[in-house]
Amino acid sequence: MSTFVVTGSASGIGRATRRRLEQQGADVIGVDLHEAEVVADLATVAGRALAVSAVAELAPAGLDGCVVAAGIGPHERPVERILAVNYFGAMRVLDGLEDLLAARRGAAVAVASNSAGITPVDPPDVLEAMLADDETRALDLAASMHGAVLYGGSKRALTTWVRRNSQRWGARGVRLNAVAPGPVRTPLLQGSIDDPELGPLVDALPVPWGPSPSEPEQMAGIITFLLSDASAPVHGSVLFADGGTDALMRPEGL
Ligand code: NAI
Repeated sequence: MSTFVVTGSASGIGRATRRRLEQQGADVIGVDLHEAEVVADLATVAGRALAVSAVAELAPAGLDGCVVAAGIGPHERPVERILAVNYFGAMRVLDGLEDLLAARRGAAVAVASNSAGITPVDPPDVLEAMLADDETRALDLAASMHGAVLYGGSKRALTTWVRRNSQRWGARGVRLNAVAPGPVRTPLLQGSIDDPELGPLVDALPVPWGPSPSEPEQMAGIITFLLSDASAPVHGSVLFADGGTDALMRPEGL
């Protein structure tokens, strides 16, 4: 029986991915703030460590895959928490589970966002602090920044982390990719739509191929494809699943 970890498994994309993996006959260890095998707050150093050690206890023989989907939207406050969950929470879980994934030559998928490319992060100091793994400085800088910029920045840092680590992970036999969705019908998206400032921005986003928003089950199909042998040799990739918004806004790519 194969074993997968899914963070953010209680809702939205994480929950749909969990269901799809279970339908395929896999065992899933969910990690979330509630309704999960491992209840942990990935915004905190202690919560991330707890999540990694609890997974190691539940899957001592290794993991076939890991999906880091836990995340919060640009409307969440305090804004620093956006970086703490979306970047540091995701990256630390991946980092902490690397050996377990290598033990079974598994695959990992980070759920990023198309905002990784289309949101300018200026000044870039906060990105540099994230990529230098300086959480204290990144969160300090974030305190005076806009939630939408931090959201895009957290996802940019996450996709960069995935690409920077693909050589090392590949050498250990583990595939590592990111998916970059556009709007997906989940509570996170609804939180942005309900925000008086962010709602009009969501509405204004051009989506060449619709309908938009897409459904969490569609993202689950893409994520499980990236976890499966059918997607070998895709590795170190950022797969845009956004109806073409990124292609329209940044035709030259990353
Ligand atoms: P959601 O709100 O439906 O699910 C997110 C899950 O993450 C929830 O179960 C929540 O409890 C969990 N979570 C939040 N903070 C946590 C923490 N500190 N520790 C542990 N778990 C935590 O959201 P959705 O939309 O399914 O989001 C999943 C991922 O997809 C996120 O990383 C999000 O940034 C990304 N995404 C979502 C888009 C959308 O339009 N819904 C678009 C692009 C990316």
